Amino acid sequence: MAVAAKQEFTFAVVTMSDKGSRGQREDTSGAYIQSKLSEEGYAFASYVIIPDAVPGIIRTLNGLCDSDEVSLIVTTGGTGVAPTDVTPEAMLEVIEKEIPGMAEAMRFESLKKTPNAMLSRGKVGIRGNSLIINLPGSLKAVKENLDVVLPVLPHALEKIRGDKGDCGKNQ
Ligand code: MTE
Repeated sequence: MAVAAKQEFTFAVVTMSDKGSRGQREDTSGAYIQSKLSEEGYAFASYVIIPDAVPGIIRTLNGLCDSDEVSLIVTTGGTGVAPTDVTPEAMLEVIEKEIPGMAEAMRFESLKKTPNAMLSRGKVGIRGNSLIINLPGSLKAVKENLDVVLPVLPHALEKIRGDKGDCGKNQ
């Protein structure tokens, strides 16, 4: 089976930031994710910036996944150890399947850049036909982590969509 064109996959960007949601901080991380994934050939669907609060994060992520209109959701922020960091707790209520290897790979590669990488508790998982990837909040961390998962995205998104092709063929 041919590899699907990236434009077939739509993506949404969700930024978790109390300050950003009040307009007190420019969201360079969300903007970067949008431009990088568009440049990679994925189809931009939506962007939202919301406060660090579990109910709102659950509502936003469930809404995007259950609309069946986005293949990929990339979040930034709220993965750390501060009292306000609750993105992983919300993810536990949202995802139906976890993909620990993708989050582990990001931490593994990030540890080569900074020991602070071990403080990110970001998760990766699937709800319905959507893949959700948590990235940390800083622009530097977003760039470094996104680079780690970009190579597997086409295959992951095809499989999540239900492609029954042989895995080895496209490697
Ligand atoms: N990962 C990479 N690759 N580069 C970084 O600079 N920063 C870390 C970590 N992951 C970082 C990184 C820091 S300082 C923190 S506190 C955690 O991500 C959590 O970030 P968050 O709370 O903004 O989500």
